[in-house]
Amino acid sequence: MFESFFGFSANPFQLNPDPSFFFESKGHRKAYAFLQYGLFQGEGFIVITGEIGAGKTTLVRALLGHIDPKSVVAAQLVSTQLDADDLLRAVAISFGLPVKDAGKAELLAGLEAFLTSLVPQRRRALLVVDEAQNLTSRAMEELRMLSNFQIGDRALLQSFLIGQPELRDLMRTASMQQLRQRIIASYHLGPMEPDETRAYVEHRLKHVGWKGDPSIDAQVYPALHEATAGIPRRINSLCNRLLLGAYLAGEHRIDVAKVEAAIAELRDELGEELGGAQVPSQNGETAGVPGNRPPVEGEPAWGSVRPLVLASIAARIDRIERKLDTVLVAVQDAVRGAPAVQDRAPRSGASRRPRA
Ligand SMILES: Nc1ncnc2c1ncn2[C@@H]1O[C@H](COP(=O)(O)OP(=O)(O)OP(=O)(O)O)[C@@H](O)[C@H]1O
Ligand SMILES: [Mg+2]
Repeated sequence: MFESFFGFSANPFQLNPDPSFFFESKGHRKAYAFLQYGLFQGEGFIVITGEIGAGKTTLVRALLGHIDPKSVVAAQLVSTQLDADDLLRAVAISFGLPVKDAGKAELLAGLEAFLTSLVPQRRRALLVVDEAQNLTSRAMEELRMLSNFQIGDRALLQSFLIGQPELRDLMRTASMQQLRQRIIASYHLGPMEPDETRAYVEHRLKHVGWKGDPSIDAQVYPALHEATAGIPRRINSLCNRLLLGAYLAGEHRIDVAKVEAAIAELRDELGEELGGAQVPSQNGETAGVPGNRPPVEGEPAWGSVRPLVLASIAARIDRIERKLDTVLVAVQDAVRGAPAVQDRAPRSGASRRPRA
């Protein structure tokens, strides 16, 4: 589609967390370093929280892509409201263990046998739980119990917990005290700085062979940053919209007027701000034993409000992405001259679409 119009090898702003596009902003680099540090320690929990769409899953995938399977057996679990009973089963499945009809005792025994069997092979087990904010406290407790498996003083399982800001709130509750004491380090991935937003956009464009087409006016970048608050997924959505708009208009230049128009369009669909002052602007970490970490004085009392606001923005962005997909398919059909084009959903302005 607009890929061939601009001579790209792929869509530079696709929304799936493809690690080959990984960009090291200060925050992403630090979060990555925390995970590496955790891997080196080989025990306990590393907790990475971050705003919705900040790049947590991309980060983890980038790390997993660099892990040597000869020394670490990594399993990934995406948590969707897992309770304690489901958790053990899900962990066993993610390590490829048979679970058919197994009760809790068998699951635990199977996991322990598996983890122990790695020791003579000089391998370690790493469990990555993404979307960990969805875990119930009982499921967290099961995870903590798993971290107790050891031979001598050597832990058999290490876990990374990755999740949205609610995970941070969950970890601070009284019932998490024991698990907190097993956290080796935690880090909160915030949005990117203005200069990083520009570098991020150019990095993704260059990754697909961008050589200045479309040209991008310098003022575009601050406008992009302001509108998206430096959150990668929002930047991708807005940039996708910009490229699509330029392609549909047959133009090879992106100026600030186009950004404003795209923002207005998206705001119209979102019904509110695209970016948002709700997003704290700093990355922050806690190393050592966060069980001892007191609640930070003066920290914004986002508590119950921020997750709701962000969840509603995320849901709306998802709706827009789905709409955009429909438009892309329709445009593709129109370009190919597919006869069934009228049967598909909304395609205003089809007559001025250039051929790719
Ligand atoms: N460091 C990065 N380098 C390149 N692309 C990134 C980076 N961070 C995020 N992205 C892009 O931003 C989008 C959102 O990233 P991702 O899905 O990793 O965010 P997330 O924090 O896991 O979101 P959620 O809170 O919904 O789980 C993806 O398209 C991803 O490719
Ligand atoms: Mg994610």
